[in-house]
Amino acid sequence: MRKIKIAPSILSANFAKLGDEVRLAEEGGADYIHVDVMDGHFVPNITIGPQVVKFLREETSVPLDVHLMIENPEFFIDDFISAGSSLLSVHMETCTHLHRVVQKIKSFPEVKVGVALNPATALTNLVNVLDEIDFVLIMSVNPGFGGQKFIPQTIDKINFLKNIINERNLSVEIEVDGGVNVGNAKELFKAGADILVAGSSIFSKDDIKKAIVDLRNATFV
Ligand code: DX5
Ligand code: ZN
Repeated sequence: MRKIKIAPSILSANFAKLGDEVRLAEEGGADYIHVDVMDGHFVPNITIGPQVVKFLREETSVPLDVHLMIENPEFFIDDFISAGSSLLSVHMETCTHLHRVVQKIKSFPEVKVGVALNPATALTNLVNVLDEIDFVLIMSVNPGFGGQKFIPQTIDKINFLKNIINERNLSVEIEVDGGVNVGNAKELFKAGADILVAGSSIFSKDDIKKAIVDLRNATFV
């Protein structure tokens, strides 16, 4: 039986209390802590760099799932890995030489490599690297901000990708990021999502632990 993984996104956390909020997420059973890295170029927002990942690594034993929304991600792979990333994803739209970037991350065998796709990016080119990667991050909002509305066409995209993965007998996981909440979690899981990223539907709640439990339960009740 497939089991969903929950990855709370700290983008919606209180950065002044980040250590405390991440510890609550850990107590709530978070499988990963999702860390959104934005450069103000690829996306219209700026967040954090490797230094924050390094401090987070010291605050929690939950694997850090680092989502690079930056141009030229290849310049920063070493820094984010030595800071303590356990999963690292780059956007297909930012990589002219995606295969090379994937190989670079794969040269660190302890790190899971992911490729992220914007809502308007087709799966077409992804199939060429699918057997090289550990997971695909399907964006279900346009990246840049937390708290946006889920784009419903994402469901078809997940279904389609899941079929390709199954047909090719791969163990690639599907991560869905953006607008995930208790109202759509079950449908996402059924469509083929393995990892649900959730920012505002976890960290904007008074009870962070309960929000994680509720989201997990929503996938099977
Ligand atoms: C958006 C980020 C997401 C964001 C999701 O660009 O990649 O990880 O935190 O936030 P919610 O869950 O609030 O849509
Ligand atoms: Zn993200």
